[in-house]
Amino acid sequence: MSAPASQASSPTRPPGASPVLSVRDLRVEYSTDSGVVKAVNGISFDLMPGEKLGLVGESGSGKSTVALALMRMIRPPGRISGGQMLLQGKDLVPLPERTMRQMRAREIAMIPQGAMNSLNPVARIEDQIIDTLEDHATERRSKKVLLDLARSALESVGLRREVGRMYPHELSGGMKQRACIAIAVAMRPKVVIADEPTSALDVVVQRQVMDTILRLQDELGVAVILIGHDMGLMAQSVDRLAVMYAGKLAEVSPIREIFAEPLHPYTDLLIDSLPKLEDRGTFRGIPGLPPSLKSLPPGCLFHPRCPKVMDICRQEIPEYLELRPQQFVACHLHEERHDRAAD
Ligand SMILES: Nc1ncnc2c1ncn2[C@@H]1O[C@H](COP(=O)(O)OP(=O)(O)OP(=O)(O)O)[C@@H](O)[C@H]1O
Ligand code: SF4
Ligand SMILES: [Mg+2]
Repeated sequence: MSAPASQASSPTRPPGASPVLSVRDLRVEYSTDSGVVKAVNGISFDLMPGEKLGLVGESGSGKSTVALALMRMIRPPGRISGGQMLLQGKDLVPLPERTMRQMRAREIAMIPQGAMNSLNPVARIEDQIIDTLEDHATERRSKKVLLDLARSALESVGLRREVGRMYPHELSGGMKQRACIAIAVAMRPKVVIADEPTSALDVVVQRQVMDTILRLQDELGVAVILIGHDMGLMAQSVDRLAVMYAGKLAEVSPIREIFAEPLHPYTDLLIDSLPKLEDRGTFRGIPGLPPSLKSLPPGCLFHPRCPKVMDICRQEIPEYLELRPQQFVACHLHEERHDRAAD
C-alpha cells in the first residue's frame, strides 16, 4: 500500500491522440533564509491539443509556479529541481535559454497573473505586440508586415485596429486584458497559459474576457491552461480540472465527472464552498489552513484538514492513481478500489 510521493504515473490519452504537453514529476523549489519552499512537489499531467484544462487550488498552492516553470521563467531563488516538461515531445527543462526564448510566444505563451499591470506604460499597444513578434521570430520581417500582424492580433481579441496607437492608460481594464491576450496569441502558440486572466475585472467584463479566450481557443485550436480560484467559472469554461493542494495534484478529472462525483475530499470541499442560492451568497470557506511548504506534514498533506482522515493518512503518502480513464486522484480512500480494479 505504501507509495512514493511522486505523481509520475502516465496519464491516459484518448486513443490515437498524443498530448501537446506532458508534465512528469515536475518539482520547483524556492530557497529562502528560513528554508526551502517546495512550491511544486512532483506533479504529472497531460494536455491534449486544443484542450482546456483548469488549474485550481487555494492561494499559495503553486499554480503560478507551475505556469512560470512551463514558461521556464522561474527566477532565483527559485529553480526547477526535477522532472520533465515535454512540449510536443521536446523536454523544455534542459533547453538552453536561447532556444527556450524562441519557443516562448511561438510555441508556448502566457497571460501572466496581473497581466494588465505588466504592459509597458510608455509604449503604444501595437509596439508592444511588435516587440514580442520581433523578440521571438526566427526570421526578419518588414515593419509593415509586423504592423499588420499586430493589428490583426488586436482584431482577433475584439479590439479595433486604432487601439494599437493608444497607450495603456487610455484603455479600460477589460481592453488592457484583451491587449495582453493579443500579445500572448500573436505568434499562434500551441499552448497558452492564462493565470487568473479575469480576477481584477468586474463580473460583466470577466465574462467578456473569458469569452474572448474561449473563442480564440476554438478558432486557433490552441490548448489552454486556465488558472483560477473560481470553480463556477471553471465549470462553464474547461474540459478537465486539475486540483492542486500544497504543491501537489490532489485530483485531475473531466469537469462533468468532477462536479458529479468528486474523488478527493479537498475537491469535494472546494465544490461545497461555492456560494449557493439558499446561503444568500455567503462564502463558506474550507476550515483550517494549508501547511507551510517549508515543513510539510507526514503522510497525506491534506490530513490535518480532511473530514475523512484515517490512521494511514497520517503516515503514508497516497499514490497518484488513475482510478478511471482520465480520472486521477491521490487519496487513500481510493487505493483499495484501484487495487481491486487492477486485479
Ligand atoms: N520568489 C519566491 N520566493 C520564495 N517563495 C516563493 C516565491 N514565489 C512563490 N513562492 C512561494 O511558492 C508558493 C507557491 O506560490 P504561487 O505563487 O505559485 O501560488 P499560487 O497558487 O499561484 O497562489 P495565488 O492563488 O495566490 O496566485 C507560495 O508558498 C509562495 O510563497
Ligand atoms: S488520503 Fe486521507 S487525509 Fe488525504 S484526502 Fe484522502 S482521506 Fe483525506
Ligand atoms: Mg498565482
